[in-house]
Amino acid sequence: MTARIGILTVSDRASRGEYEDRGGPAIHEYFADVLTSAWEPVPRVIPDDQAGIEAALIELCDQEHCCLVVTTGGTGPAPRDVTPEATAAVSQKLMPGFGELMRKVSLEKVPTAILSRQTAGIRGSSLIINLPGQPKAIHECLDAVMPAVPYCIDLIEGPYLETNQQRIIAFRPKKK
Ligand code: MTE
Repeated sequence: MTARIGILTVSDRASRGEYEDRGGPAIHEYFADVLTSAWEPVPRVIPDDQAGIEAALIELCDQEHCCLVVTTGGTGPAPRDVTPEATAAVSQKLMPGFGELMRKVSLEKVPTAILSRQTAGIRGSSLIINLPGQPKAIHECLDAVMPAVPYCIDLIEGPYLETNQQRIIAFRPKKK
């Protein structure tokens, strides 16, 4: 089964075309480099509007059947930063360990990492993960959480993701 991966760029300016979206393509490149099993991207670029973000997340999970939806942007403290709220609103379960680990590794790079409220959640058979907007944060954060992502997707009955072992070793605990 080809894994579908939603790539949701949340940015007022990128959605208006004021600057080129660099976050979405960075996420695409990351998975092209790391995944060896079949996958296809489902990209979207939308403004920082909570109802719109919720609608895009629901569409990517329920209609597009993405097993994984990765967002970039809108995790900070500014008034228009509402990606974590939208993620929480559409998720049945929150997965706070993702945000905790991503902030921990990001803090080793930049003191402002504590400003990211990024989280993750499960909606049906989809895992939603928030990344900050900075393209360089995308690699740092995905490298940190990616070893646990394939097993998480196994547990929510998604496709079996395989990784390039030179880049990321997917950890799957042995069955009892
Ligand atoms: N994490 C990493 N790894 N690298 C970064 O440069 N920028 C921080 C933080 N996390 C950053 C990072 C900053 S400055 C902010 S405001 C928050 O992420 C939120 O960014 P966002 O609003 O673009 O999502």
